[in-house]
Amino acid sequence: AKPVIVAIDGPSGTGKSSTSKAVAAQLGLSYLDTGAQYRAITWWMVSNGIDIEDPTAIAAVAAKPEIISGTDPANPTISVDGTDVAGPIRTQEVTSKVSAVSAVPEVRARITELQRTLATSAEYGIVVEGRDIGTTVLPDADLKIFLTASAEARAARRSGELKGADVNATREALIKRDAADSSRKTSPLAKADDAVEVDTTALTLPQVIECVVTLVEEKR
Ligand code: C5P
Repeated sequence: AKPVIVAIDGPSGTGKSSTSKAVAAQLGLSYLDTGAQYRAITWWMVSNGIDIEDPTAIAAVAAKPEIISGTDPANPTISVDGTDVAGPIRTQEVTSKVSAVSAVPEVRARITELQRTLATSAEYGIVVEGRDIGTTVLPDADLKIFLTASAEARAARRSGELKGADVNATREALIKRDAADSSRKTSPLAKADDAVEVDTTALTLPQVIECVVTLVEEKR
């Protein structure tokens, strides 16, 4: 069978990562978390004292860090210049700064190229999750899914993951990040015209996984 390319986009807290990893594992496909790549370059900018408010400063060094993503859904790894950053990219500091860094066109061009290289070299196919995969990175994907959920459901899921985090604060931070990601000029968060929209508000994770697996199988 020819490799199958699946794009899964949507705002934060819709279950993109859990769903994408599980679908890839179940179908023997590779997996790429593109948000982790944007977080990794943001971590590098913060660590190197680059002013996050200054897009010109960010653009000037966008090509410097070497970002390597492991694509095994059972063990998705991410490193910057040889350092494992899987933990540090999940801090609140990186989370609050990633939208500004990922809005810079030079950053997107650089990361998009990495994503296309990984997607086209996956032997059996790949599930790629992000914000602009169906619209910009892989417009010819075999299947495009756009996951949504109510703001309440997304905040509740995220606070559950963050153990003890305040639901209201989490909700505000999510809404702010999604608004920034949706309104930026270069490849904003958007549903591709040919994407299948799945509203996960009332669904359990196993139900979402089953739904996506069925859609992929129909394409194979
Ligand atoms: O998916 P995750 O929440 O880890 O993504 C972190 C951030 O990375 C997003 O809020 C967005 O700013 C950026 N991102 C992006 N394009 C993608 C994936 C993530 O701009 N394809």
